[in-house]
Amino acid sequence: MKRTLLITGGAGFIGSHVVRLFVTKYPDYRIVNLDKLTYAGNLANLRDIEKSPNYTFVRGDICDYDAMRTLFAEYAVDGVIHLAAESHVDRSIRDPFTFARTNVMGTLALLQAAKEAWGNAREGKRFYHISTDEVYGALPLDGGLFTETTRYDPHSPYSASKASSDHFVRAFHDTYGLPAVITNCSNNYGPYQFPEKLIPLFINNIRHGKPLPVYGRGENVRDWLYVEDHARAIDTIFHRGRDGETYNIGGFNEWRNIDLIRVVIRVTDRLLGRPEGASEKLITYVTDRAGHDLRYAIDSRKLKEELGWEPSLQFEEGIEKTVRWYLDNQPWMDNITSGEYERYYEEMYQGR
Ligand code: NAD
Ligand code: DAU
Repeated sequence: MKRTLLITGGAGFIGSHVVRLFVTKYPDYRIVNLDKLTYAGNLANLRDIEKSPNYTFVRGDICDYDAMRTLFAEYAVDGVIHLAAESHVDRSIRDPFTFARTNVMGTLALLQAAKEAWGNAREGKRFYHISTDEVYGALPLDGGLFTETTRYDPHSPYSASKASSDHFVRAFHDTYGLPAVITNCSNNYGPYQFPEKLIPLFINNIRHGKPLPVYGRGENVRDWLYVEDHARAIDTIFHRGRDGETYNIGGFNEWRNIDLIRVVIRVTDRLLGRPEGASEKLITYVTDRAGHDLRYAIDSRKLKEELGWEPSLQFEEGIEKTVRWYLDNQPWMDNITSGEYERYYEEMYQGR
C-alpha cells in the first residue's frame, strides 16, 4: 500500500462520502475508517464499499488517547482526515458537555497521537481537520461573505466547540510543526444525511404527511453545497493544499430557509405524484432555535484560485438527486427511524 489514511467519522454523513471517494479512487491507499458509531454513525452508509480490499473499519472513540496511539502504531497511519464530531446544533444546545468532549478533547487526543507517532518525520504526513463556517458567527442579511481571515465569533455550543478544535489544530501546527490543514465548509446536503437535519427531515415528513417545523419566520439564510462536491474539495486539499493554511468551502448558493423548504416541497410532491404545492399546508412555524445565526455565506475564491476547485452541481440538479435518493431508499430511512440501523454493526462485524 502506498499510504495509510485514517478517516475519522467515516460512518457519518459527509465521512461516508469521503471514505467512498478515497476507497474507490485510490486502490493503492489503505483507508482505515475509525468511528464510535454514535446515534449518527451508520455502517449501512458504506455497504457498497465495505468489502473492498483497501478498506478497514475500526470501532473506537477519538477521545480514547491510548486507543488512538495504538491505532497510529498498528496501522502506520501517515495521513488523517478528521471528520468525527458531534454535528447537530440543536443537540449542542441541550447537551454542550458531549460536544466539548468529542469535538475539543477528542480532536486534542487525535492531534497528540499524530504528533507522537510522527515526531520529526513529517515528510508525506498530513493532519486534515474538517470544520464549519459556523465558527465565523453570523452575517447580516444584506451582504458580506466569510473569508479565511474573518474573525472567529461562534454563538452555539456546537460552533464554540468546533472553533476550539480549530484553534488546537493551529496551535499544534504553530507550536510543534504538525503538518496540518483546516477547511471550513458551509451546509452540506445529499444522500445519507441523518434525518434530524433540515432537508432529510423535511423530505421524510412530507412523505408521511407530518408537520414541517420551520424555526422562527424561516428567514435565516444558509449556503448549500452538494456533499459529493465537498468530498471532492477534501480530496483536492488533502493532496494539494498547503500546510498551516485554512480554506473555505462553499456553494455560492444562498437560500432563505423558507424558500428552500418550498423547493423541497415542490420537488418531493412532484416525485410522489401529488398535486403541486399539496404539502405546503404542512409548514408549521415553531419557536426559533436559541442563538439562531441569521445568515452564513462562504467566499471560496481562495480554493478556486489556488487549487482550481469549484462546485460542479447546480442546486436544482442537486436537490432533485437528493429528494429522489431519499424516496428511492426508504428502507434506509425506515431503519433509522425504527432504530434498526444500530444493530448492523453487531451483525456485520461482531461475529468475525
Ligand atoms: P455526522 O453527525 O453525520 O457524523 C459524525 C460521525 O462521527 C458519526 O459517524 C459518529 O458516529 C462519529 N463520531 C461522533 N463522535 C465520535 C467519537 N467520539 N469518536 C469517533 N467517532 C465519533 O456529521 P457530518 O454532518 O457528516 O459532519 C462531519 C464533519 O463535518 C463534522 O466535523 C462537522 O462539524 C463537519 N461539517 C459538517 C457540515 C454539514 O453540513 N453536515 C458542514 C461543515 C462541516
Ligand atoms: O453551516 C454548516 C453547518 O450546517 C454544519 O457545521 C452542521 O454540522 C450542520 O448540522 C449544519 O448546521 P445547521 O444548523 O445550519 O443545519 P440544520 O439542518 O440543523 O438547519 C438548517 C437551517 O434550518 C437552520 O437555519 C435551522 C433551520 N431548521 C432546522 C431544522 C432541523 C428549521 O427551521 N427546522 C428544523 O426542523
